[in-house]
Amino acid sequence: MTAPEQAEPRASAPSPGADRSGDATADAAPSDDVSYEIVAPVPADGADMWRLAVESQTLDANSRYAYVLWGRDFADTSVIARRDDGLAVGYVTGYLRPQAPHTLLIWQVCVDPIARGAGLAGRMLDAAWDRAVATAGVDRMETTITPDNESSIRLFSSFARRHHTSIEREDLFGPELLGDGHEPEHLYCIGPITRSAGVHNTEGGKK
Ligand SMILES: CC(C)(COP(=O)(O)OP(=O)(O)OC[C@H]1O[C@@H](n2cnc3c(N)ncnc32)[C@H](O)[C@@H]1OP(=O)(O)O)[C@@H](O)C(=O)NCCC(=O)NCCS
Repeated sequence: MTAPEQAEPRASAPSPGADRSGDATADAAPSDDVSYEIVAPVPADGADMWRLAVESQTLDANSRYAYVLWGRDFADTSVIARRDDGLAVGYVTGYLRPQAPHTLLIWQVCVDPIARGAGLAGRMLDAAWDRAVATAGVDRMETTITPDNESSIRLFSSFARRHHTSIEREDLFGPELLGDGHEPEHLYCIGPITRSAGVHNTEGGKK
């Protein structure tokens, strides 16, 4: 693995080489005259996901390589959002837990500050959920959140409400594992979510 590189300048056009032919999820909704396409990532999206993570100054940014790999191996449980001018403004990375393959663990949710506060994170979360339901039949979601991240707690509580299910919190990892200066990570368990309780269907088109 190579060390993280410096963030590149923002792209103003879609990532070169990004092949969208197989995308099953698309979402576009107006927000102050801006619409977003929410799709499964491809490896070429890794650079943008990494840039957004670094620029967030909140997330633990993984290596650029990790995000490229994510776009290959976890595309069915992740999404990236682009503005209609091609600028990447958000992403969700998730995976199916190997020990519980019907549980979608959401690893990171990130929205560029220019696009926050307009419901984009919620729409990306719903799109990632819908994809994982369609491809893997998931019925539970998990995520970890530090106690100081109020917006993230609100985001996932809101997801649970939309899907008519409960959200429960328990201790997961503390500084003894994560290192001094790292807030503890609480585990949030959402579900079960029945298919009939689903409120979104983003397959194959805009909503
Ligand atoms: C957390 C984050 C993804 C939210 O993105 P967003 O697009 O602004 O979120 P949404 O507009 O979809 O809002 C989702 C919910 O969170 C609430 N929320 C959003 N920002 C908030 C804030 N700063 N403070 C309190 N609540 C907030 C919204 O009110 C909404 O709740 P509601 O449905 O009950 O009204 C974004 O702030 C971000 O990228 N932060 C840095 C990275 C991070 O902390 N990610 C989460 C942990 S992985």
